[in-house]
Amino acid sequence: APKAIIAPSILSADFAQLGADCARTMEQGADWLHVDIMDGHFVPNITFGAPVVAKIRKHVDKPAAGLGRGTFDCHMMIAEPKKWVKEFKNAGCDLYCFHYEAAFSSAAESPEAKTDAKTNPKDLIRYIHGLGLLAGIALKPMTGVEVLTELLESEDPTERPDMVLIMTVKPGFGGQKFMASELPKVQALREKYPDLNIEVDGGLGPGTIDQAADAGANVIVAGSAVFGAKDPSEVISLLRTAVDS
Ligand code: DX5
Ligand code: ZN
Repeated sequence: APKAIIAPSILSADFAQLGADCARTMEQGADWLHVDIMDGHFVPNITFGAPVVAKIRKHVDKPAAGLGRGTFDCHMMIAEPKKWVKEFKNAGCDLYCFHYEAAFSSAAESPEAKTDAKTNPKDLIRYIHGLGLLAGIALKPMTGVEVLTELLESEDPTERPDMVLIMTVKPGFGGQKFMASELPKVQALREKYPDLNIEVDGGLGPGTIDQAADAGANVIVAGSAVFGAKDPSEVISLLRTAVDS
């Protein structure tokens, strides 16, 4: 499996001092920042939009290329993911991770696309890549991984996601209980795709990381476990060790 990438979720940071909190978590050993964007439609909560991302980008060095240190991993829990790609690119997002479940509703933008809704996530990945961003695709609990087979096995690299996110809680809020029931999805993906970046998000921390790592996850999101810790650097290194050993 690929090496560990630790991505603290700034949903648990202090929004009144986001810039400083982001800079600090990077100094404490984070690889990426996981940036949760919620629109009050796709999920029953609202966070912040591109103007805030643009401001915090100034506090964290941009990665040179690819999935390097400083990657802004934008987790788009929004109903119309296609609509916001350019805006988030301009704000400094590096990896635009949309929900599979939402990619279909954005088909409403184009009547032709609606008749062929199945190709919609594929078109969105191509569109994201075309704008020079990395593309991630997220699955809520209950959505099975078989929906990704065609994308992951596409002959055309512009159609293949750079990362798959398996939610281990219902999206919307930090601090929820980890759902081990989602781990067979991680395991199934890891068995088929040894080099895939597989991210897990929700309820990850010292008590749950071993199960997630054993299943094959390598990109680890943690919000409350990192920002709520007495010693966040210790938690970040513990998460890393669990994945890499
Ligand atoms: C939930 C978000 C998560 C959240 C995780 O919808 O996608 O990124 O911040 O928070 P914890 O790690 O506290 O479960
Ligand atoms: Zn998230």
